Amino acid sequence: MNQQRTTFGSQLGILLASVGCAVGLGNIWRFPYMLGTNGGAAFLLVYVICILMLGVPVLISEFFIGRYAKRNTVGAFAVMAPGTKWSIIGYNGVLAAFFIAGFYYVLSGWTLDYIFTSATTSLEGKTAADFSNEFEAFSSGIFRPVICTLLFIGISHYIVVSGVKNGIERASKILMPIFFLILIVMCIRSATLSGAGEGFRFLFQPDFSKINSSIVLSATGQAFFSLSLGMGCMITYGSYFGAKTNLQKTSIHVTLIDTFVSILGGILVFPAVFHFGIEPTAGVELVFITLPNILAQLPFSNVWAVTFFILLAVAAITSTIALHEVATAYLHEEFKISRKLSTFYVTIGVSVFSVLAALSFGILKEATIFGLTFFELLDYLTAKVMLPFGGMLICIFVGNRVDRKILKAELTNKGSVPFYFFNTYCFVTKYVAPIAIGAVFLNELGLFKLFNFLF
Ligand code: PHE
Repeated sequence: MNQQRTTFGSQLGILLASVGCAVGLGNIWRFPYMLGTNGGAAFLLVYVICILMLGVPVLISEFFIGRYAKRNTVGAFAVMAPGTKWSIIGYNGVLAAFFIAGFYYVLSGWTLDYIFTSATTSLEGKTAADFSNEFEAFSSGIFRPVICTLLFIGISHYIVVSGVKNGIERASKILMPIFFLILIVMCIRSATLSGAGEGFRFLFQPDFSKINSSIVLSATGQAFFSLSLGMGCMITYGSYFGAKTNLQKTSIHVTLIDTFVSILGGILVFPAVFHFGIEPTAGVELVFITLPNILAQLPFSNVWAVTFFILLAVAAITSTIALHEVATAYLHEEFKISRKLSTFYVTIGVSVFSVLAALSFGILKEATIFGLTFFELLDYLTAKVMLPFGGMLICIFVGNRVDRKILKAELTNKGSVPFYFFNTYCFVTKYVAPIAIGAVFLNELGLFKLFNFLF
């Protein structure tokens, strides 16, 4: 294999970059809204099962593919299975990176606008209707959402063009500690509000009767989205890991931290939601309408609001650079284009998707496909279709196509670290995960009423 490849500089850098890729708006924005609209604690339970059963094995498999092949997500399959169609996994990933970036940059752009607005206008005295109207007016506009989105893309471009070590790793090392500090302060604030108990019950006390097939699909999609799986992000990052990196440990750490952050995201949102007697089922707008409304009612409301949106922006940026990197590494390595130019092409591509997604709240609102706006379509297609599909193929590939000796040697660093559950991992990857994901798909297509029958 190509030994001259760029790598991250340190084990801490590897962990923080991977955690930065996984932790993002998926934890603070998407997880609470999914949980809120999918039955609360019942969703959390199904989600944790998905993370353990599907998330961990797929993450280990992606790190394995990346570090073994030392190539981008398309090239990795050309190295490991030359002349076959397996590289379809890579193409699915690069396309998914553009699609996710398309709607993710819009949300990220909104956070910038909210930081600015919260810093410059007083929140006191505003009613719930004011927040809702302001959000409507802002998101359906043209100039502000588009400019903010492009600004965020510009920041990500700058980091990615600076390189794997000097850009991505350095940014993650600076931003992730800031993220954790703000997150913990905000969780303490929310958890100590009166009435927080009800929020905790909503989050942690499952009502099993709520579990159905659509919750299972949503939880599967959320697990893949949150851990950035099924689209080659972790293959690409894994390709920058050094020979000494313990892939199993890194996977477990990333999974634990990511899940913990999602739960903290829930702790940040739900006690506050219940404290102020607001419906937890607000959906996509939960953190953009409901939360500002809540923060406005606290003393020093502007400080809390600015802090909260900085938290979101920081969470977002370490994920957008990962999305950008997937496509950049692909262009750079497969077409032998300079890194600078590759990043530039990706920036142009994601700008087109993002601007269309940004406008789908306003002038393109009526331009729906299958009843979904462009923004909603990108979210649905990636989280619920492309990522689980990619994850399923990755498991089938690693479980059936890869030589067990090679797999074990890579995952144990040539025997220098133990892998106690290697056989279980192989069994899950070969049978359990692909069958489980396949069943969820078939069920969603209405061909297979397994979960409705079971629950
Ligand atoms: N995992 C990121 C989040 O939770 C989103 C993401 C998905 C980033 C896929 C990269 C690739 O916000």
